[in-house]
Amino acid sequence: MRFAYYTLAFTVVLLVSVMGLRGLRSPRPPIEVFPDMDRQAKYKPQAGSKFFADGRADRPLPAGAVPYGRDGTKADPAFLRADDFRYEGKLADDGFGRGFPAGVEVTEVFVRRGQDRYQIYCAPCHGALGDGNGITKSYGMLTTPTYHDDRLRGMAEGEIFHTITHGKNTMMSYADKLSPDDRWAVVAYVRALQRAAHGKLDDVPAELRGGLK
Ligand code: HEC
Repeated sequence: MRFAYYTLAFTVVLLVSVMGLRGLRSPRPPIEVFPDMDRQAKYKPQAGSKFFADGRADRPLPAGAVPYGRDGTKADPAFLRADDFRYEGKLADDGFGRGFPAGVEVTEVFVRRGQDRYQIYCAPCHGALGDGNGITKSYGMLTTPTYHDDRLRGMAEGEIFHTITHGKNTMMSYADKLSPDDRWAVVAYVRALQRAAHGKLDDVPAELRGGLK
């Protein structure tokens, strides 16, 4: 019997606490268990501020700020690369640039870096000499071109860069394996291969010609 009273009392307390005062307004603020979460020193959007000279809580963008991400939702580092020649191989008129962009200096170290990357990423198809006779030819990849025909010799550096960056037909993009500067280094090495394949006796210093036929 006693148990039944306790149960009844408990049920009444529960009902009153859950439903009893619903809808009643109180002028007093609610009980705050963790007030530090409710009360923070912060400004709401478009609010005023006595702190800043212009009286606004919203601060203007710093000079030179650009949106990070083309559609504003996802980070797109390429968007910050305003120099199209250096990062796409293209000029303002959408044509491919010739030569190397500002900031890319073709030194011996640079070309050797290109050689190193070329031998890893390009030689399997294009061959160590750039003649299109890489190992993949014997496995059926027959469309790999030689660099030594007139079309590819005359091709703008920017277009070679663009091909490495975006691929072409059966050739994939190498943008995830070669940084932009490494791609330019590979372009420089492709030029070196082309130069070597069309070398003439006059290109060799006189004192070194003895051993050549
Ligand atoms: C998996 C094989 C493969 C690899 C690796 C490869 N290529 Fe190619 N590449 C091809 C094929 C195939 C083509 C011909 C694409 C076409 O025009 O159909 C080609 C075409 C090209 C062209 C000519 C594009 C044109 O407009 O005709 C260039 C330049 C070139 N590759 C450079 C490179 C460089 C530099 C690398 C290394 C970063 C590389 N390729 C790696 C297979 C490869």
